[in-house]
Amino acid sequence: MRDNRDVKDYIRTIVDFPHEGIMFRDVTTLFADPRGFRMAIDQLLHPYAGVRFDKVVGLEARGFILGGAVAHQLSAGFVPIRKKGKLPGAVISEEYQLEYGEAIVEIHDDAIKAGEKILLVDDLLATGGTAEAGIKLVERLGGEIIGCAFIVDLPDLGGRAKLETLGMEVHALCA
Ligand code: PRP
Ligand code: ADE
Repeated sequence: MRDNRDVKDYIRTIVDFPHEGIMFRDVTTLFADPRGFRMAIDQLLHPYAGVRFDKVVGLEARGFILGGAVAHQLSAGFVPIRKKGKLPGAVISEEYQLEYGEAIVEIHDDAIKAGEKILLVDDLLATGGTAEAGIKLVERLGGEIIGCAFIVDLPDLGGRAKLETLGMEVHALCA
């Protein structure tokens, strides 16, 4: 029988994780499914056919899983943006607010060269705080962000509007 499931059908929602009131979109069920994972990577890449990227920047932690696969398909390099204190070399940092708290993210200060074309990748866009911090880090190093790609966009939390205000092109597979 034909499998008609779309990317969103592989994502489960966990109620009250990590705090009461949060509907946590769990993409591990998507990643674990061979058909679902391939479809997600293919759909993330779809708008960028024929576009040349130097590097994919992935946001910790689920953005690493997606970003690695996307970078391989684009024959681009991969650069991680990590939570504070995890990267071994010299870093630059940005502080930001989350849907459930606050955090600091960092990038190696030599990971991107001025003028390099960048695709920013993460699993989910909520308030946009994480992505905005990532954008600032990339732009402080002189990178040119061509697109920001996500599996899930939660539009009620304002992330897409925030990134579009910053002049970003946002691509998301489902809400
Ligand atoms: C989640 C998600 C995004 C971010 C989105 O990561 O993977 O990175 O939140 O939220 P925002 O748009 O409100 O910033 P989380 O901070 O839970 O980190 P983790 O992937 O390391 O668990
Ligand atoms: N990051 C921020 N909000 C989230 C949510 N609702 N589900 C998964 N990750 C998130």
